[in-house]
Amino acid sequence: MPARIIDGRAVAQALRAQYRARVEALEKKHGVTPGLAVILVGDNPASELYVRNKIRACGEVGIRSELVRLPNDISEARLLGEVDRLNADPSTHGILVQLPLPPHITMRRVLERIAVDKDVDGFHLYNVGGLITGSTIFPPCTPYGVQKLLEHERVEVAGKNVVVVGASNIVGKPMALMLMQRDATVCICHKLTRDLAQFTILADILVVAAGVPNLIVPQMVRTGAVVIDVGINRLPDGRIVGDVDFEGVRQKASLITPVPGGVGPMTVTMLLHNTLRSAERRVGILEEPSLASPAA
Ligand code: GUN
Repeated sequence: MPARIIDGRAVAQALRAQYRARVEALEKKHGVTPGLAVILVGDNPASELYVRNKIRACGEVGIRSELVRLPNDISEARLLGEVDRLNADPSTHGILVQLPLPPHITMRRVLERIAVDKDVDGFHLYNVGGLITGSTIFPPCTPYGVQKLLEHERVEVAGKNVVVVGASNIVGKPMALMLMQRDATVCICHKLTRDLAQFTILADILVVAAGVPNLIVPQMVRTGAVVIDVGINRLPDGRIVGDVDFEGVRQKASLITPVPGGVGPMTVTMLLHNTLRSAERRVGILEEPSLASPAA
């Protein structure tokens, strides 16, 4: 029987409806509207598209957004000055610096300047380090989205073999730490891994974030595995595909995410979540308010 397809769009939509209700409650009870500031340096077309989606999603749930556009040749000092301004602004609860930054700017210096309690991307060293102990304030959005999808589908993680393909700072490494925190047995593979299939075939849960179309074919997947495809690749004919041979692997897996419509919609949704949580924390709501639907 082919795998059941995880509908990331539907899960994201259900979560966003809950966030909208929480934003309204925050406004009503505390007079606070969550605010996200997005800093975009230069005019990289992919970054423009990502930022547009983030701003639009904020509007959908009632989060106030501010787009700070800066020229490609901005000095690092001026960029840090903008971060300082937003750090000091009480109406800004989340700050996101869209990556990549131009080469004359030291990315880590900029990310480390963001106030830890406004670091809704989860890229500050404090939040990255917190993943080791399970005490990060803001988990990074893409792996957090994967975790939420697994929770939504009630996939048990504890004691499972999880193989993560891809060891990036944004997805692979934090994903592995988050799953270890939930008592999975985790293996991280990357572009120099010899005989990738020898590892992937052991996976009860396979998370692929390598940026290589069709990297994962059916022979590499254990029957009944849960397959999460984080890849987003544009083919020469314009089609968007993931890293997994979807049609082939679907015949072997038990659950699978499509591309598009799987993990993608969850990434921006987790940015909304982190921004909302930041505003809730500011007014003293330290625990996550209970969700309207236990399934979401
Ligand atoms: N560029 C590509 N992905 C991301 C992301 O998740 N956050 C930021 N800030 N920049 C990115």
